[in-house]
Amino acid sequence: MTMKILLAGEPEAAGWARWRARLAAALPEAEWYTRAELGASGLAPEDIVAAVVASPPPGSLQGLPKLRLVQSLWAGVDRLLADATLPPDVPLARMVDPMMSAAMAETALWAVLALHRGFFAYQRRQREGLWQAHAQRRAEEVRVLVLGLGAMGQAVRQRLEPLGYRVQGWRRDGTPLEPLLAASEIVVNLLPLTPATRGLLDARFFAALPPGASIVNLARGAHVVDADLLAALEAGHLRHAVLDVFHEEPLPAGRAFWRHPQVTLLPHVAALTDARSAAAVVAANLRALRDGMPLAHLVDRERAY
Ligand code: GLV
Repeated sequence: MTMKILLAGEPEAAGWARWRARLAAALPEAEWYTRAELGASGLAPEDIVAAVVASPPPGSLQGLPKLRLVQSLWAGVDRLLADATLPPDVPLARMVDPMMSAAMAETALWAVLALHRGFFAYQRRQREGLWQAHAQRRAEEVRVLVLGLGAMGQAVRQRLEPLGYRVQGWRRDGTPLEPLLAASEIVVNLLPLTPATRGLLDARFFAALPPGASIVNLARGAHVVDADLLAALEAGHLRHAVLDVFHEEPLPAGRAFWRHPQVTLLPHVAALTDARSAAAVVAANLRALRDGMPLAHLVDRERAY
């Protein structure tokens, strides 16, 4: 029997066309419906067995009694889990795609390299019309801490280590964080956003870093206490922050981060889901569902990632 799959969430505005073409090519034996199309199709909600979602508006997955898998196109599922109407017993899968991890590793590499060699400082000097060199350091002298050692954290580590950077990793498994912070000058955050990691990067966290350290946040804005970050930058304790993610996105005009000389910001693009490869990841999980095989990349609702 043909699998009937709901498409829910963000791409709806721009149209699911691009995704649909990729998904149909990866799984020709399925049929794909947005809510509007489902309504018009004459199918019943119980015909839907799975949903492929990208930050769907709260309530999008209600009223589907036969739903057996929610597959996210996003790596982070914090917004999805925040939906109180999410059916509690339906398995939920995150996007884990080596191409997405590779993109994340490129962004981390760019940030670490620019911080290590002081290229952001040279950018500032250009704007000021200043011709002025600073000391050049070796990668071997730079200690990087990667927070979160999932697929992306591992990819970042594997990208940085061959260049000579001294990379440490930390995950929330009871390993004390403070000694690692004291020995790190660049922190790359790739943690999932959970009740346990929300606000982790706060005044205490920054104070545990050596003076002149920098932060690279590629995970979620809510990991950071913004006022504490700004205070640490302004006090000169932190040198620079590279921020891809914010409490509110798009970052509202007028927020201090937009024009702060010690902040480099990106519009949440550190690693976009690549439809070309992610469609195959989705198809593999949907086939596993159909065939009664184990599902991949399942979220633990207790852990919240
Ligand atoms: C992007 O932030 C994602 O979670 O995929």
